[in-house]
Amino acid sequence: MRIAVAGTGYVGLITGVCLAEMGHHVVCTDIREEKIQLLKTGRSPIFEPGLEPMLKQNLSNGRLDFTANPKTAYKDADIIYIAVGTPENEDGTANLDYIHAAAYTIGVSIEKDVIVCTKSTVPVGTNEKIKEIIQSVNPPPLQAEVVSNPEFLREGSGIIDFFNGDRIVIGTESREAAAIMEKIYLPLKIPIMKTDTRSAEMIKYASNAYLATKISFINEIAEICEKVGANIEEVAYGIGQDKRIGPHFLQTGIGYGGSCFPKDTKALVQIAGNVKHKFELLESVIKVNNRQQALAVLKAKEIVGSLKGKRVALLGLAFKPDTDDTREAASLAIVKALLEEDANIIAFDPAAIPNARKVFGNTIEFTMDINLAIEDADIAIIATEWDHIKHFPLERYTERMKSAIIIDGRNCYSLQDISKHPITYFSIGRPAIIDQPKRIKN
Ligand code: UDX
Repeated sequence: MRIAVAGTGYVGLITGVCLAEMGHHVVCTDIREEKIQLLKTGRSPIFEPGLEPMLKQNLSNGRLDFTANPKTAYKDADIIYIAVGTPENEDGTANLDYIHAAAYTIGVSIEKDVIVCTKSTVPVGTNEKIKEIIQSVNPPPLQAEVVSNPEFLREGSGIIDFFNGDRIVIGTESREAAAIMEKIYLPLKIPIMKTDTRSAEMIKYASNAYLATKISFINEIAEICEKVGANIEEVAYGIGQDKRIGPHFLQTGIGYGGSCFPKDTKALVQIAGNVKHKFELLESVIKVNNRQQALAVLKAKEIVGSLKGKRVALLGLAFKPDTDDTREAASLAIVKALLEEDANIIAFDPAAIPNARKVFGNTIEFTMDINLAIEDADIAIIATEWDHIKHFPLERYTERMKSAIIIDGRNCYSLQDISKHPITYFSIGRPAIIDQPKRIKN
């Protein structure tokens, strides 16, 4: 099939490259010329494991191309994927400007019947709007069937998820369009669910909202565990054994971030509000997450009192490991809170420094060497569970820090390992280890 993809962000680029890998002829387009130029050289603008080799491979075998001219991409396509951003408006609603602009450009570009497949996360009813826009500039008899085909890709494992997802959702009222999309995905051997457009749009929001709810639930249980002297890891394991609950997404920490959960939960609250439903549960999920992101600095102030002038090593900037994305990351909230306390911050991250520097400039120091980050630090705060941090030798903390105090926002270390070292250690939902003699570096 000849496929076009509008948008070369995390979703569009991974979708385009993987569809080319499946054997389709794919042209990806983006309004940002500099991204297209970079992609045409085989380099990826995003840090995503396995993406660049697959990108290079399909560029060289001619199945994949990039253009900054959308008309070139759309006019010969049989299927056009819309994978442009739906950023958050001030009031929490989804900003659909890019979606509408893509629909308009598709409308004025197409010269034959086409399927328009919406990958972007869009409020219920948006796919009908997309069809209206296309038909308004390119009226029948030209047919543009619109399909809602939400993505369930996780950053850092996008390619794995594309080829090994749990299900593919195809939402459309057109049986022909459903059959064509089914044919595209059959080789993946992933269960395919065909439904109506609005249900498909809702499945995406409900999935992300439920996952975010699971995270805020386990984070609140962790708070209670700390107060009653239970251990969240034991509790999470114990409840996860129940097949109805399952072990996934019960990892406590300093809250969820990323470009999806924060945006999609707020958008769903607004979508519910638009139909006069106050989504109280999801509002609480958001509130708990905001509180969780503030936890690390509150704990730091409890331990060392004023943070003014203190040297704080912030370990991890990305919103999760194996990505360079810092959007809505817990680390951003931590840095802002530490700056308000006039702390001196040096931040470590193996991939996300360029993105974090765009936010903080030179208000904080950055390093890709954990040893440098903790050198002479008064306290270390772990915000991302990178393997580099999880496997970092614990004795380095006592050797290099002014005082070996760690606030572990991602429970990277076991209490057993920590207790072998003179480290003062706070984590989430587990007993604090503060009876160790604090070794003040002489
Ligand atoms: C998410 C959904 O998983 C994916 O299906 C959807 O398509 C896009 O949004 P993503 O945001 O990339 O994917 O990453 P994910 O692995 O879901 O993590 C999201 C956030 O939740 C991260 O900040 C992560 O640290 C946090 N998280 C995840 C937890 O705090 N605990 C967990 O158990 C799992």
